[in-house]
Amino acid sequence: MKENKLRELLNSLSLQEKVYQLVQLSGDFFNNNEVVTGPLQKVGIDQNVVDNTGSVFNIFGGAKAVIDLQKKYLEKSKNKIPMLFLGDVIYGYATSFPIPLAYGCTWNPLLIEKMAEVIAKEASAAGLHGTFAPMADLVRDPRWGRCLESNGEDPYLNSQYVAAMVRGFQGDFSDDHIASCVKHFAGYGAGIAGREYNGMESSMRNLYEVHFPPFQAAIKAGCEMVMPSFNTINGVPCTGNKHLLKNILREQWGFQGLIVTDYSAIQELIDHGFAEDKSEAAKLAMDATVDVDMRTNCYANELIPLIESGQLDEKQIDDAVWRILKLKNKLGLFENPYRGADVIKEKEVCACQKHRELAKDIAAESIVLLQNRNSILPLQKNLKISLIGPYADTNMINGFWAPFATKDVKTLKDCIEVKAGKENVYYAMGCPLLNDNSIYKGFGVPVEQLEESISIDEREHLIQEAEKTALKSDVILLALGEHHLESGEAASRTQPTIPPHQVELLQRLKQIGKPIVLVMFNGRPFVLNEELACDAIIEAWFPGTGGCEALTDLLYNDRNFSAKLSMSFPRAVGQIPVYYNELSTGRPAQTSTHNGRFLSKYIDCENTPLFEFGFGLSYTSFDYSSIHLSSHTLTPDTSITASICIKNTGKYDGVEVVQLYIHDIVASVTRPVKELKGFQRVFIKANETKEVQFEITEELLKFYNNDICFTSEKGDFDIYIGSSSMSYEKERFKLIK
Ligand code: GLC
Repeated sequence: MKENKLRELLNSLSLQEKVYQLVQLSGDFFNNNEVVTGPLQKVGIDQNVVDNTGSVFNIFGGAKAVIDLQKKYLEKSKNKIPMLFLGDVIYGYATSFPIPLAYGCTWNPLLIEKMAEVIAKEASAAGLHGTFAPMADLVRDPRWGRCLESNGEDPYLNSQYVAAMVRGFQGDFSDDHIASCVKHFAGYGAGIAGREYNGMESSMRNLYEVHFPPFQAAIKAGCEMVMPSFNTINGVPCTGNKHLLKNILREQWGFQGLIVTDYSAIQELIDHGFAEDKSEAAKLAMDATVDVDMRTNCYANELIPLIESGQLDEKQIDDAVWRILKLKNKLGLFENPYRGADVIKEKEVCACQKHRELAKDIAAESIVLLQNRNSILPLQKNLKISLIGPYADTNMINGFWAPFATKDVKTLKDCIEVKAGKENVYYAMGCPLLNDNSIYKGFGVPVEQLEESISIDEREHLIQEAEKTALKSDVILLALGEHHLESGEAASRTQPTIPPHQVELLQRLKQIGKPIVLVMFNGRPFVLNEELACDAIIEAWFPGTGGCEALTDLLYNDRNFSAKLSMSFPRAVGQIPVYYNELSTGRPAQTSTHNGRFLSKYIDCENTPLFEFGFGLSYTSFDYSSIHLSSHTLTPDTSITASICIKNTGKYDGVEVVQLYIHDIVASVTRPVKELKGFQRVFIKANETKEVQFEITEELLKFYNNDICFTSEKGDFDIYIGSSSMSYEKERFKLIK
């Protein structure tokens, strides 16, 4: 529809009709196949609002359900404005890709863009118009359940993925693309003590430097929607935060798209103690330029009285309605309200072979080899394997947002049997995944769907069976991890570890004296102790549809590992948060001239993480030459080329992720000890040497100073190029201004 026609449409709407556009309800209002993502309380909404609501979320009934619903809706509708269908399609629709923390380890944003395209293709064929993804929240705390949805601890790396996701989802806005909603703005990943929905504290400067960049990257990539976060910043809940949403997001960054709240967040302004009642909550949200109210009656019931009493200006409503109409128009809904929804296409594309292959490729680039003593891996095909553990023979490997997309998902046992021959594989479960499922009552999953809690005797019996099984084999392949309900939203844990009853199984198997290859399925970095006694450790994360096939290829070296961690693994819970880009301290543990005592360190633990950001092993090894700089001085008008040669010194071909970090040695605000500024994935054949170059410009040296001005300062900079944030070559140059 032409813009002037759209304006005419807006002008023809009554105030009540405009308000309908700003309400978003969940699938349960339409008796549909809803996925529950928040508290299911009665909303207290008039049937007229349901019949005219502007948008709906999480209807996953497929194309037919969406077509039927849209049809009925339009039949009743006076203005014939189609309903917008949104959903949480986070890392896959029918094909489940690895969780974001896992694909964060690919260091391959181009591949991730392809992934988002595929997700959009499937979701649009199933009738969705937009997704609440990507999540751009930076995370440094493994206690937080939503680590799983983050790309990790680094603003630069996260920004690359977030922009790739937005591009992939939205493409050219043709019918097999969907609109993207970046979330949760802002600072949601930094909730105090890793507790879900908790407040965060940060200086504005730190928000700009650490938490905002992935959101800015999304906006720059053209993201159509933003979801404010549940948390407070500086004591102000983001959903009612005028400074954050109006001044920064809209005015400073020029965001003209739709702001959609998180689940019942406007009403929660009351629980925050920020609004007295629903009327005040609605006013605060409107004043902050929040357009759409997800699943409360605040906008539906309060906006009209607020306008009538002069507390809100109708122009504010008009602006919000204009933004949702513009999005509907951009999606082509006025021309075709059913858009991409197509029962035949849906069948064709959803979880088709091509998409499954891509899921497998991404999983292979996401799975991280953390330890490989005495080159126990790769496995030889003639070895007898005992395959033990609650993750050894299950297809529930997709994690929180896609747990039941398990159709045709192969288990590890299925895959190893194919590769090694059935006769060489012995299986025992060893223990259940959950020791006690009672805490999951009320989690939205019927407890009957969880396996029964078992008695101590039954558990002992399972362990003994596993011990007998292990005795028959050359190598134990032990698959342990978290239940999908133990990570994700509202799954904060004070002990981010492999559950203790599974560790007990590991300890018992260790006594048998056979080599153990541990594979972990989880949504957060774990603190590992006894596990370190295993010969090899693989971080599989929740690897999705192609996960176990990819894992098996890696175990037998039909593919080589290339993934590198995007989030550090702590040595101990008390070290959390531990991340590579920490600030310089006045008493650095390694380089201070003070004597040994009064330094920034723990007396019972090293400062460094167990496995650092950027770390991941390969079956081959890479040697780095020293860095060559084309010049040792830089000006705002010149650039420096930093070159380094990398030799594959091992037996196998492999991909190395070459990482560039920079440290601003002296500045007007203390700078992080290191900051990622670039990376390249390079395929290097065995015995081959490749040169890698990075271009260093003044732009890379800019940071937010105390006046929140993005600028660079003259002086010396250290440059690090290497295979992780702790393993590198070093050089120095000067910026002259
Ligand atoms: C949730 C989440 C958000 C999601 C929304 C809608 O509570 O915080 O990420 O998009 O509900 O399901």
